[in-house]
Amino acid sequence: MKDIKSQAKEKMKGYCRVCPICDGRACAGEVPGMGGINTGSSFKNNIKALENVHINMRLVHEVRNPSTQINFLGLKLSMPIVAAPIGGISFNMGGALEEQAYVNAILQGCQQEGTIGCTGDGVPPIIHESGFTGIKNLKGHGIPFLKPWEGAELRDKIAQAAATGCSIMGMDIDAAGLITLRKMGRPVTPFSQHELEEVIKHTHKLHMRFILKGIMTPMDALRAHEAGADAIVVSNHGGRVLDHCPGTAQVLPSIASAVKGRLPIMVDGGIRDGVDVLKMLALGADIVGIGRPCSIAAMGGEAEGVAKLLSNMRSQLEQAMILTGCETIAQISQEVIFKQ
Ligand SMILES: Cc1cc2nc3c(=O)[nH]c(=O)nc-3n(C[C@H](O)[C@H](O)[C@H](O)COP(=O)(O)O)c2cc1C
Repeated sequence: MKDIKSQAKEKMKGYCRVCPICDGRACAGEVPGMGGINTGSSFKNNIKALENVHINMRLVHEVRNPSTQINFLGLKLSMPIVAAPIGGISFNMGGALEEQAYVNAILQGCQQEGTIGCTGDGVPPIIHESGFTGIKNLKGHGIPFLKPWEGAELRDKIAQAAATGCSIMGMDIDAAGLITLRKMGRPVTPFSQHELEEVIKHTHKLHMRFILKGIMTPMDALRAHEAGADAIVVSNHGGRVLDHCPGTAQVLPSIASAVKGRLPIMVDGGIRDGVDVLKMLALGADIVGIGRPCSIAAMGGEAEGVAKLLSNMRSQLEQAMILTGCETIAQISQEVIFKQ
């Protein structure tokens, strides 16, 4: 990873410093760019929230070869880890890789390691077009995320998503806070529960499952479930849409209390290694998304870089499972969390 990171540093000059710990301090306010909005506190809170979670180490047990495999919405994955959707390579990362090459690196690196990559959306259209092309080339092995566009535009993009052959699509409803869309004159708004229900019904008619991303409260999680969402992503968009949000690890337990078992819960934000993955699963998630570390790996080492990052994270997760006595992902529970 050292070489991959140093190459990424070169390629992302002026956009990302590739800090030893990617924690949102150096890049506060850099949106567009790789930072968090304004003071960067929502990005930094993601990191802090995970730092504040401690683990019960347990060694008197029989666990030797834990399994990291999971089923997620009909997909068999080698690990409970996916690449989060990230778009806008030219204005966020400097464009040393073309949008399509970046998307291919993410999708192929994930597939190589037995998991799946998500793709982003935005303005210009090359963002979602690259995602769709990349997923189509892998015979539907990818999860496209769309913005909550109005009316015909959304329906048209959902049809294009279905044409990639994917079985799951998502929508980042929190994009209503994106400066980058506002700057391009294409702001989007929140959806009512009824509007959401209509979109989800339409997606189901096209034989795709629907994930709603940008959930930060139990109320929104319940509304997503009632509207028919098949999964949610607990996310503050990597701290890029609203300043002073809590970290996702802080809100995850209450959201899990509200909807756990009714629909799968994905979480992202500040997850940097396999121990962070274990923490999120113990706090109530079923699967996690990795944002910026995947971007850095893709920029520095393309598909091989992404595969290397994921394989490292999986090994770290396995090691953490052994040291906490968890044989399977389902066995990772609140018991893993140290409580005073
Ligand atoms: C440069 C950049 C672009 C992003 N683009 C999208 C996008 O197009 N769609 C989306 O749903 N989320 C997008 N996100 C948010 C990520 O999917 C994810 O929620 C966030 O990066 C997770 O936090 P982490 O980077 O700390 O892991 C973007 C994030 C970054 C940093």
